[in-house]
Amino acid sequence: MSTHQSPAAPSAAPAPDDGAPDPLAALLQRWRKVPGGLLPLLHAVQSAIGYIPPTAVPRIARALGLSRAEVHGVISFYHDFRTQPPAQHRLRVCQAESCQAMGSRELTAGLEQRLGCKLDQPRADGAWALESVYCLGLCAASPALMLDGQLHARVGLPQAVALIKQTEELRA
Ligand code: FES
Repeated sequence: MSTHQSPAAPSAAPAPDDGAPDPLAALLQRWRKVPGGLLPLLHAVQSAIGYIPPTAVPRIARALGLSRAEVHGVISFYHDFRTQPPAQHRLRVCQAESCQAMGSRELTAGLEQRLGCKLDQPRADGAWALESVYCLGLCAASPALMLDGQLHARVGLPQAVALIKQTEELRA
């Protein structure tokens, strides 16, 4: 039997019992004693798994001595944390003031129709996520969006639809 845990330390919640790899265990071990470790732990979980599974919340809470509500509160406060597997393509449309003044709401409505999903509600097939973002640093070239990490400025609906089509064609 081998263990790296101090016998006096509180143990993290048990790992899933299905024999599958448990990437969360090492992360909990790494961050459980670090003051203020919740945020870096959540980032590490999302980086390792792609999102923060709801089943991870009680384990994180127990490992860090927090309540589930505290962990959930932080996850829901920060827009960048995902609680579902990421979509294949992520289209983030700026909803902040400058972009709104230049038509980002209308752009968003058109994109909802084109993609068949609502803003901030991933499409059921997991292919696309249409997400809100509040300023991409391109206010002088509004409306702005980010497609799979690439910034695009002064994007109207026809240009955005062309970008989507191009992305879908590359994937096909
Ligand atoms: S307000 Fe949209 S990029 Fe700044």
